[in-house]
Amino acid sequence: HASMHISALPQEVMVRLFRYLGPEDLCRCSQVCRSWAEVVKTGSLWRHLYPVRWARGDYYRGPPGEPDQDPDEDWVQNLQEEGRAYQEWDEDADVDESEEACEDSLAVSAVRKEKKLLNGMIQNLLPAVGSSVRTLSLAYSSAVSSKMVRQILSLCPNLIHLDLTQTDVTDSAFESWAELGVCRSLEHLDLSGCEKITDYTLKNLTVGLGDLTAPRFSKNSPDCKNKLLKTSSSAIQLLDRHSGYSLGRARTALVFKWRPGGRSMSCSPVWVLDPTELADIEDTADWTRKEGVAGLGEGRGGILGVQAGGRSCCCRSGTRRSFRTDIGSTYFQQLYGTLGEKQCGHSACCGSDTVLRTVKETQCEPQATEGSTELWTKCPSEGEIRTEQSGACRALRFLSLSGCYQITDLGLRCLSQGGGLPLLEHLNLSGCLFITEVGLHELVSVCPSLNDEHFYYCDNINGPHADRASGCQNLQCGFRVCCRSGE
Ligand code: FES
Repeated sequence: HASMHISALPQEVMVRLFRYLGPEDLCRCSQVCRSWAEVVKTGSLWRHLYPVRWARGDYYRGPPGEPDQDPDEDWVQNLQEEGRAYQEWDEDADVDESEEACEDSLAVSAVRKEKKLLNGMIQNLLPAVGSSVRTLSLAYSSAVSSKMVRQILSLCPNLIHLDLTQTDVTDSAFESWAELGVCRSLEHLDLSGCEKITDYTLKNLTVGLGDLTAPRFSKNSPDCKNKLLKTSSSAIQLLDRHSGYSLGRARTALVFKWRPGGRSMSCSPVWVLDPTELADIEDTADWTRKEGVAGLGEGRGGILGVQAGGRSCCCRSGTRRSFRTDIGSTYFQQLYGTLGEKQCGHSACCGSDTVLRTVKETQCEPQATEGSTELWTKCPSEGEIRTEQSGACRALRFLSLSGCYQITDLGLRCLSQGGGLPLLEHLNLSGCLFITEVGLHELVSVCPSLNDEHFYYCDNINGPHADRASGCQNLQCGFRVCCRSGE
């Protein structure tokens, strides 16, 4: 037998061999030569990413464990201590990150290594393999920033499992979901302990997941379209021209103009009323009721204008319900002030029957859109999932917002739009102090697969399935928000 050099092996064989290697070895191999570097950038080698573990020498790269598996307590504690040490070091460091200034403790160097690894992935690896990535776990990362998460999410549009537990991310991390129409395949989202997350993120999430509810009118038929178009300048505008993915072909025919905006929410596909072009506000309100699409669109004074003309919000009229903690006193003013919204976030206060509708209230008959090859099945409430060619399936099965105390009923309502979450089995809303039973009922009514054993919310709320749901998970946690912590 003539001996054969390894470089003569076909690429498929090399990929098979490389499958036995961990991420660290793969990185070394990529430095051997150009052709090996190419092989290392094969997507199937990078399906599951755990940079936090990798930075600490644990090179596991298999699929994620069971969702209910509790993380190792010592591991979590170590990471939290490292995070604290890194923060202190970072505050003291005089912008001098040179090697000389790097005589830091082991804890700090672990976080620095993690940061380096994340930057390396964003710059060198993910642009090549991002579309193959299915799992990304950044749980307890002290190095990750919102900007990094935003970059990663943009590069990894086919994520199935995303874990950002106890990170410092803000709403800006998720802007790409609405702007790029990604996260269609997302099944597992863990934002436990991400205290800076607000309803904005849930809006972006619901847009990114896609819309299962059909545009119910074709070019030639329903009256509602005629009503909308009865003047040349309609009062309704779709803010995102790129949003055909969530609104379907027929509805994109009603795109009037693109209105660029500063913040993320103004880039979401939302329907708003233009106060300067109000042709027939009653018809518009009627249309939104029929179509059930307003949920994504309680944008700036737009559809809310309908409500403002009707009844006023209890919070604004001095009957604001009191919160159990002090956190809430200025929160809504800030949040809805910046949105220009006149809502308090409570479903009960804000008249969901006037402004927003859930999928339960929309009609879901099978229907073909003219000229399209979209496939429609029955609506989720009838036990089947509606899919469309654009790929919307709202496949989320696991969602944890535990400790995201800024979430309100408005955020829950966003999730209930677009067809709800028909596959959701696990929902953790422990420590969400501002949600009420009304918001919970609204969301749960469009989550037919929810398993009560895996349904957690504050013990002080008399919400849906109260006798069977699992209550608040943060009572004993010690580091996550809970209205009864310290008791
Ligand atoms: Fe109320 Fe934990 S948030 S019991």
